[in-house]
Amino acid sequence: MDISSSPTAERLSRYTQAEQREILGEGVDPFGVADTGLTWLPKEEHFGVRLDGRLVAHTGLLRIPVTIAGVDVEAVGVGGVAVAPDVRGRGLARTAMTAALAHARTMGPRHGLLFCRPPLVPLYQRLGWRTLDEDVRVEQPGGPVIMPLRTMWTPLHDDADLPAGGIRLRSFPM
Ligand SMILES: CC(C)(COP(=O)(O)OP(=O)(O)OC[C@H]1O[C@@H](n2cnc3c(N)ncnc32)[C@H](O)[C@@H]1OP(=O)(O)O)[C@@H](O)C(=O)NCCC(=O)NCCS
Repeated sequence: MDISSSPTAERLSRYTQAEQREILGEGVDPFGVADTGLTWLPKEEHFGVRLDGRLVAHTGLLRIPVTIAGVDVEAVGVGGVAVAPDVRGRGLARTAMTAALAHARTMGPRHGLLFCRPPLVPLYQRLGWRTLDEDVRVEQPGGPVIMPLRTMWTPLHDDADLPAGGIRLRSFPM
């Protein structure tokens, strides 16, 4: 095996609590978002990176219904971005995200969307994401709420822009 080669991402056939624990361990709030009290959607497609057979990084995707400037469309929601604590800072989030976004570009929707804690904004900007400085409404069991986390987006098609005029998620967030 050429140990100098960069790790590559693969599409995962399953990503359950067990795979998440393999990456992030047993912590109760590994994404640091429990204090928002939000209800989240599971992701439907999964991309991961293995090192010596061990799953160490993940990015998930799903189609989400959104309203952009009054028009109902779909976007690709990105979430569950995770890298094992002992191998962070080596570009593995980039590797998993790059594979996930390559697939997202084939899905049809023009926009990728993610929600993150404010300290992660510079990291996602480095990965090509842009901040959205408007309030974003998302559905919750008790009705719509304003998303308390930062919203970021990325174009999935060359000509995709995000027109002003508000964006609303017509589902739970991812
Ligand atoms: C967030 C997380 C996934 C990052 O994983 P990572 O493997 O350390 O990330 P990477 O090494 O791939 O870094 C991605 C890029 O961001 C850059 N970056 C990292 N921290 C940065 C910062 N504070 N400011 C600017 N850029 C930063 C890296 O340099 C890298 O860019 P490069 O490839 O051009 O050098 C990881 O810390 C994690 O799993 N945290 C816990 C779970 C979590 O909070 N997930 C996010 C949910 S939204």
